[in-house]
Amino acid sequence: MPYDKLLSPIRFGSLELPNRVVMAPLTRARCPDLVPGEMQQTYYAQRANAGLIISEATNISESARGYVYTPGIFTDEQEAGWSKVVDAVHDAGGRMCLQLWHVGRIGHGMVHPDGRKPVAPSALKAEGAECYVEFEDGSSGNHPTSTPRALETKEIPDVIDEYRQAAIRAKRAGFDMVEVHAANAYLLQQFMATGANKRTDAYGGSVENRARLTLEVVDAVVEVMGADRVGIRISPFIEIFGLTDDEPKAMAFHLAEQLEQRGLAYLHINEPDWAGGDIKLTDDFRAAMRQRFASGALIYCGHYTAERAEKLIEDDYGDGAAFGRPYIANPDLVARFARDAALNEPDPSTFYGGDEHGYTDYPTLEQAQ
Ligand SMILES: Cc1cc2nc3c(=O)[nH]c(=O)nc-3n(C[C@H](O)[C@H](O)[C@H](O)COP(=O)(O)O)c2cc1C
Repeated sequence: MPYDKLLSPIRFGSLELPNRVVMAPLTRARCPDLVPGEMQQTYYAQRANAGLIISEATNISESARGYVYTPGIFTDEQEAGWSKVVDAVHDAGGRMCLQLWHVGRIGHGMVHPDGRKPVAPSALKAEGAECYVEFEDGSSGNHPTSTPRALETKEIPDVIDEYRQAAIRAKRAGFDMVEVHAANAYLLQQFMATGANKRTDAYGGSVENRARLTLEVVDAVVEVMGADRVGIRISPFIEIFGLTDDEPKAMAFHLAEQLEQRGLAYLHINEPDWAGGDIKLTDDFRAAMRQRFASGALIYCGHYTAERAEKLIEDDYGDGAAFGRPYIANPDLVARFARDAALNEPDPSTFYGGDEHGYTDYPTLEQAQ
């Protein structure tokens, strides 16, 4: 069989996965009322062949939102909607993880019914960044983010509690795992990055202080789910949404050590060049992360092919890989890898928003024949 390492089973915490092909979290912006519905049930069930499906980023609260049409996990309706999605994935033989999301400063008052300002570690605008809004005429599109307000120290426990409540709902909805979204320049990475965090309290300054919120969020979520059902996604060195960071390596090493101590199920690294840019992870960095996060599963994402993922596992830099755009276009990605078959090409014009087209209508190998 081609790719026999990638297609071999692995344990992620308390979950036994039949293969190491993970479906990466993919925002598709097709939930106008924030509630996942039948379209999402079909879409995720079609992809149940993945060792693990990680859901699209899901808003943990009203203030966490920065993009219209993305789902939430903070009301009973949203929880019930997700519960049906998870049932559909389980019925199709799969396993599913919910990605917990707070956008921080990548937002705008237009996204919220009450026009509230986005919140962030410091009142610094994300230069050049855009969020996704609905305009007065009912159309939607990208819009520059607004200047956020800095979270007060006394508000931070409330933010942590939003993650905790979201995890409680995720557990009740039947998710097998949750993933803390600490990547892609959103709230938790804003706290970790020197360019976005100018705080002088216990959440700013040293590496330890800048990592504090992320680790407190992890601890809160672990209390709900158990460490063997919690993963985290980070994206060291990434330069998107105007994020700058003077110490990404020190932060990544510190996090890996802390997460190892907590016995987290997996650490998911989104590579810095996934959205363009020249920065690439080095093998030395991968080896150092492996050494520090040794007990849980370590996975990478960003421009992976089956061949590259197989090599990553063979070289023992990681245990598996997550696939984003290939999963958008290939619902039967694992079967295609197993047969070394050609892949459908994704159509970026249907990535965000819209209906079934470009969502649930990509053909499987059988359908294409
Ligand atoms: C349409 C689209 C939506 C995405 N949404 C999310 C998301 O919700 N959460 C997240 O952590 N990353 C998100 N990403 C990043 C992907 O998870 C992944 O890291 C990236 O696409 C690189 O993997 P690939 O080269 O296999 O596509 C998104 C990427 C794309 C293309």
